[in-house]
Amino acid sequence: MTTINDVTKLDVIESVGVLTLNSPPVNALSANVREGLDIGIKKAIENNDIKAIVVICEGRTFIAGADISEFGQEPKGPSLFDVQDIMENSPKPVIAAIHGTALGGGLEVALTCHYRIAVKSAKCGLPEVNLGLLPGAGGTQRLPRLVGVEQALKMVTSGLHLPAEQCLQSGLIDKIANDDDLLNNSISYAKEIIEENRPLKKVRDIDEKVKAAQGNDEIFQNFRKSIERKTRGFLAPEYNIQCIEAAVNEPFDEGIKVERDLFIKLISGNQSAAQRYFFFAQRQVAKIPDIPKETELLDINKVGIIGAGTMGGGIAMNFANAGIPVTIIEQSQERLDKGIGIIRKNYENTAAKGRISLEDVDKRMQFINGNISIDTLSDKDLIIEAVFENMDLKKEIFSKLDLIAKDSAILATNTSALDINEIAETTKRPESVIGLHFFSPANVMRLLEIVRGEKTSKQIIATSMGLAKTIGKTAALVGVCPGFVGNRILAQRQREANKLILEGALPWEIDDALFDFGFPMGPFAMSDLAGLDIGWSKETSRSETIRDILCENGRFGQKSGKGFYIYDENRNKLPDNDVEKIIQEFADNKQIKRREIEKDEILKRCLYPMINEGFKILDEGMAIRASDIDIIWINGYGWPIYEGGPMFYGNLIGYDKILSWLQDMEKEHGSDFSPSPYLEKVVEEKINIFN
Ligand code: 3HC
Ligand code: NAI
Repeated sequence: MTTINDVTKLDVIESVGVLTLNSPPVNALSANVREGLDIGIKKAIENNDIKAIVVICEGRTFIAGADISEFGQEPKGPSLFDVQDIMENSPKPVIAAIHGTALGGGLEVALTCHYRIAVKSAKCGLPEVNLGLLPGAGGTQRLPRLVGVEQALKMVTSGLHLPAEQCLQSGLIDKIANDDDLLNNSISYAKEIIEENRPLKKVRDIDEKVKAAQGNDEIFQNFRKSIERKTRGFLAPEYNIQCIEAAVNEPFDEGIKVERDLFIKLISGNQSAAQRYFFFAQRQVAKIPDIPKETELLDINKVGIIGAGTMGGGIAMNFANAGIPVTIIEQSQERLDKGIGIIRKNYENTAAKGRISLEDVDKRMQFINGNISIDTLSDKDLIIEAVFENMDLKKEIFSKLDLIAKDSAILATNTSALDINEIAETTKRPESVIGLHFFSPANVMRLLEIVRGEKTSKQIIATSMGLAKTIGKTAALVGVCPGFVGNRILAQRQREANKLILEGALPWEIDDALFDFGFPMGPFAMSDLAGLDIGWSKETSRSETIRDILCENGRFGQKSGKGFYIYDENRNKLPDNDVEKIIQEFADNKQIKRREIEKDEILKRCLYPMINEGFKILDEGMAIRASDIDIIWINGYGWPIYEGGPMFYGNLIGYDKILSWLQDMEKEHGSDFSPSPYLEKVVEEKINIFN
C-alpha cells in the first residue's frame, strides 16, 4: 500500500491498482482529493505491476461533486480539468467503482474513466442545476454521448439521481456490482478488461447518440416548452440546455468551451450564490445550538390528531405516507366521515394523476382511522391538535389531554397565531407541549415551523425535529410570538399591499410585480385562492376594509368565481373594473389621493418591511439564525430560491440602503416603517449576520 496523501492511498491487487479516496463526509472534490487523484493516477501509470486502475471511495458515497464550500475562493492544487485529462489519457484502463451517489464533478470524474461499474443501490446524477449551475467539468458534453440527448436534457435540468439499473440501461455505466462486494467485483471487472484487451473507451470520442440528434431542433424547443413553467425565472436550466445543444452541434472541444463560458457566467452570478447559500442553509436549519446531537429521541409509533378539517386531514396524510398509524378525533361521526372522505379523495386525485397507484391509496388509508372519543388517544406517542383557532377551545382540549395522554406523549398544537405558552400552562406538563405549525396544504407544503414554548423540553424539540425529517418536512425551530416567524413576516407584506391598493396600485399590478420577482402568485391572487371569507362574518362586517366590501358583495374569491379578480370557467383570473371602482370609492371616502405607483416602489414597499421584521425577529431570538428565516420563506411561502430568501436578498440590496429607505419612509408615513434597532446596529457596526 502506498499513501498518496491524507485522503488517498494506492494498493496493488493482482495487477490492478486500486486508488482509494477517503474524504468524509461525501468525498467532495476538495484540493486534497484532486491532488490525491492527480498523483495517484500518475503513480499507477508509472507502476509496471499495474495493468488497470480502479478508482473507488470509502465512506457513504463515491465522489458527490465539487466541494461547494470552495467556490468563490482562490483555487488551490491541481484543477479538475488537469486531473480528468490524466485519467482520460491514461494508457491503462481506468475504471470508476461507484457506490452511494456519483454526483456532479464526481460523475464527471467517472465519465473520464474508460469504464464504470456501480452497485445496485448507487445513483448517478448531475445536480448542478439545483445550485444554479451547470456541470462545469465536461458533464454536459460527455453525458449525452452516453445516454442520448433527451435523457441528458432531463438529467441536467432536473438534477435527478438516476438509479444504477437505469444507468446501465441508458449506457451511463457498464456493469452492476453486488452491493456488499464492490471492491472485489471491480477488481474482477478490471482483470476482465485487461485479459480481453478491451479498448480505452473515451466518452469524448463516442458520438452516435449526439449525431442522431443533429439538425433536430425540435427536441430542444419541445423540451424547453415542457419545463417552462417549472423553471420560470431560473437561468441555469436554459444554460444547461444550451450546453447540450453545443454537444450535439459542435465538436467536443468547442462544446467544452461553450460549457466553460456558461459555467463562469452562472458561478459568478447572484442566482447561483443564492442557491448555494440555500444548499447550506437547508442543512444548517436542522442544527439547534443548545440541543446536543446525541439527545435521545422518543419513539413515535402512534399518532393522534384532533380535528379532521383542512389542516388535520392534511397532517394525517403525512404520517400515513410515512407508514405511521394515525387516529383522528372529531366532534361528531358526521364530521369525522367527511374529513376522512376528503383524505381518501385527495389520495385518489393523486392516483388519477399517476403519482401513486390505487393500491397505494388503500395502503395509506389503512394507516388512518377515526374516533369521536378523545380518550382513544391515551396510548399515542404524539398528539397534534388542529381544531378551530380559538384559545378557549384549545385550552379545554389540552386540559383533557393532560388527563388522558401517557406521560411520555408529545402534546402539539397546530395553532397559527395563539400563545403556545398559555396553552401549555393549562397542563401539568408544559415541558411536553410544543407547536407544530404545518402549512396548507399540509400534505404538500415542505415547511414545518416547530414552535418552542418557554418550557418545552429539549427531548421533545429534538424528537420533533427528527420526526419532521421522517415525514419529509423541512423544519425550522422558532419562538413564541404573534404569527411566529413566517406569518409575522407575511403580515408586513399584506399590510403594505393593502395600503398600496388604496394609494393607487391595483391588485393585479401588485400581484404582477411579485410574480415577476419570482413568487408563484401575489397576495391578492393568494387571498382569492384561500377564500376571502376566512375569518370574515356577515353579521359583524362593517365595510371597514376592501376585503369586507368584497365579501359583502358575495365576492369570496375563486370559489365564488370572483374576489379581487373575476374568474372564467377555467379559473383563469382577470382584472375586474368593479373591483377598481370599489377601491376608488373606498379611497375617496377615506380622502386618500390615488397616484401612479411604479413596480419598483411596489417591490420596495412589499419586501423591505419584511426584511426589517426579519431583523426584529432575530433581535428577539425568535429565529436561531438569519438563514432559518430564508428557509422558512423559501419552503413555506414561495420566495424564489434564486433570490435566496428575504435576509439574503436584503444583503444583496445592501442593508444600509434598506435602512435609509425605512428611515425616510418612517418620517413620512410613521411607525410601520420604524427600523429595527438591530438593523441599525448591523449597518453601523458592519456586522455579518450570516456568520
Ligand atoms: N461540497 C461540500 N460539502 C458537501 C457537499 C459538496 N458537494 N455535499 C455534501 N456536503 C456536506 C453537507 O453540507 C453536509 O455537511 P454538514 O454535515 O456539515 O451539514 C454533509 O456533507 C453531509 O451532507 P448531507 O447532509 O446532504 O448528507 P446526505 O447523506 O443526506 O446526502 C448527498 C448526501 C446526496 C451527497 C448530498 O449531500 C448532496 O446532494 N450533495 C450535493 C451534491 C451536489 O450538488 N454535487 C454537485 C456539486 S457542484 C459540482 O460538482 C460542479 C462541477 O460540475 C464542476
Ligand atoms: P377547520 O375549520 O378546517 O377544521 C377544524 C376542525 O376541528 C373541524 O373539522 C372541527 O369540527 C374540528 N373540531 C372543533 N372542535 C373540536 C373538538 N372539540 N374535537 C374534535 N374536533 C373538533 O380549520 P383548519 O383550517 O384545519 O385549522 C385548524 C387549526 O390549524 C387552527 O388552529 C388554524 O389556525 C391552524 N392552521 C390553519 C391553517 C390553514 O391554512 N387553514 C394553516 C396553519 C395552521
